[in-house]
Amino acid sequence: MHEFHQPYTEGKKTRDKVLYGDPDQECTGIAVTATANFDVLRKAVKEGVNLIISHEGITYNYEKTFNVDEVDNEVLQAKLKYIRDNNLCIWRDHDHMHGNGGPFITERLRNDMIFYGTMQELGWKPYCSSNPKKPLWFEIPETTAEQLADELMEKWNLNGLRIVGNKNAVIKTVFFAEHVIASEWDKYDLPKIDAALKADCIIPFEIVDYTLTQYVRDAAFMGMNKVMFEMGHFTAEELGMKYLTRILPQFFNDELKVIYIQSGDTFDYQLRKR
Ligand SMILES: [Fe+2]
Ligand SMILES: [Fe+2]
Repeated sequence: MHEFHQPYTEGKKTRDKVLYGDPDQECTGIAVTATANFDVLRKAVKEGVNLIISHEGITYNYEKTFNVDEVDNEVLQAKLKYIRDNNLCIWRDHDHMHGNGGPFITERLRNDMIFYGTMQELGWKPYCSSNPKKPLWFEIPETTAEQLADELMEKWNLNGLRIVGNKNAVIKTVFFAEHVIASEWDKYDLPKIDAALKADCIIPFEIVDYTLTQYVRDAAFMGMNKVMFEMGHFTAEELGMKYLTRILPQFFNDELKVIYIQSGDTFDYQLRKR
């Protein structure tokens, strides 16, 4: 069976649905993206594709959608009008992408395609040292934090990376720490901090400042070989979506245009000059 299985979510609550547009219209092509921001919408129209598979929601909240005629927020209204006027169809593919459930589920039936795809795009499959269905741990050829940061910025097409801890660390063990977001999932953060003890480089896919970030700072201050790279959540998930362009076309006998549109690095950086 192919690595990209059928949806498992039938009959279960899922965030995956057509957010906007007519799913019955003729499909002129597919764009996959982490989140269909305005820039992505414009690029999709320019490319002549009308189905956008967006991993995340597009209306600045958890999962609520709005009717274009009901909103008076200038930005949201313009965005929804653009979708309507250009006959775009936006399908959110979130829970399905993540395999058999949300984050923190270790027993897996299906691949978590965000992490699996990230591993594939990085070329790190030979280095995976945890469950390859949801690859979070890697033993990579020894490198420096600086070299690894350069490699990741190139692969993710980033403007920069936030570096926490020891920027001179020597890296062998890399840990993708998923979400480290406290809130009601607080209890999950302590095991992550314990797990991070074993990693030279920690890459959270989403983080709040008072958890692992501060742990890494203290650990580095104590002289530990430990560094963290932060890039923001929507950006972190981009490579997993990009990987879809490698497997989707075969489902349409390669007759349908399937493209990746980068949502774009959320952050730009101004480095202090003096
Ligand atoms: Fe996400
Ligand atoms: Fe996700």
